[in-house]
Amino acid sequence: MASHWRTTARTARDAILEDLDAAIARDPAAGSRREAFLTSPGLHAIWGYRLAHRIWQHPAYRLPARVLSHVTRAVTGVEIHPGATIGRRFFIDHGMGVVIGETAEVGDDVMLYHGVTLGGRSLRRVKRHPTVGSRVTVGAGAQVLGPVTIGDDVQIGANSVVVKDVPAGAVAVGIPAQVRAPVPGLEPEELLDHRSGHLDLTPGTGRSRRGPR
Ligand SMILES: CC(C)(COP(=O)(O)OP(=O)(O)OC[C@H]1O[C@@H](n2cnc3c(N)ncnc32)[C@H](O)[C@@H]1OP(=O)(O)O)[C@@H](O)C(=O)NCCC(=O)NCCS
Repeated sequence: MASHWRTTARTARDAILEDLDAAIARDPAAGSRREAFLTSPGLHAIWGYRLAHRIWQHPAYRLPARVLSHVTRAVTGVEIHPGATIGRRFFIDHGMGVVIGETAEVGDDVMLYHGVTLGGRSLRRVKRHPTVGSRVTVGAGAQVLGPVTIGDDVQIGANSVVVKDVPAGAVAVGIPAQVRAPVPGLEPEELLDHRSGHLDLTPGTGRSRRGPR
């Protein structure tokens, strides 16, 4: 029994460290693990969600899971339904105003900015929220609505409204979002990496390329 709890504690600790490192890698304002641990509402939201999601797995405890979710929302401004499925190293920068619905599925290494909705367009109790691949970034205020599929490595522009599937590697911007073809040779991470380097606009591509300092 004691070894079970030791293993659980170690797993939880590893997951927290992984989340902290993911946050530091993606948030230029995050100074240290300690600072991120104490001050990042996005991290507090995901930790609250992870606990609520575990509780949600037991049908008898769904109400406590919803209550925990509600408390997390009050503290962080982020509402993640405990029934949603979210992968590893998920990060929400700034936190406030994010809503993730019950049947949403999110892959690994996904980053959302504040004000993002992964929401439904149907009131029926069916799969009604988006399925988001891995390494996806969703810009501030973007709304992804309905049971659409967002492929791996997609970038969704700030304030876009996505109501159709987006293929892997694409950039989707606007209302309704228009899908732009991926540019060969440009790493998706580079598009939003505002930690390092400046962006050099390359004419004719409609996309940014990182230039030398
Ligand atoms: C979508 C995004 C990833 C595109 O980055 P990019 O591939 O480097 O593309 P560019 O900036 O070169 O823009 C490409 C084109 O899309 C347009 N565009 C970019 N972002 C847009 C957006 N959010 N809404 C509408 N159009 C947008 C640009 O005007 C440009 O149009 P053009 O080809 O007609 O000139 C980026 O613009 C974005 O929105 N990132 C979100 C950042 C964010 O939310 N930050 C919050 C920090 S607190």
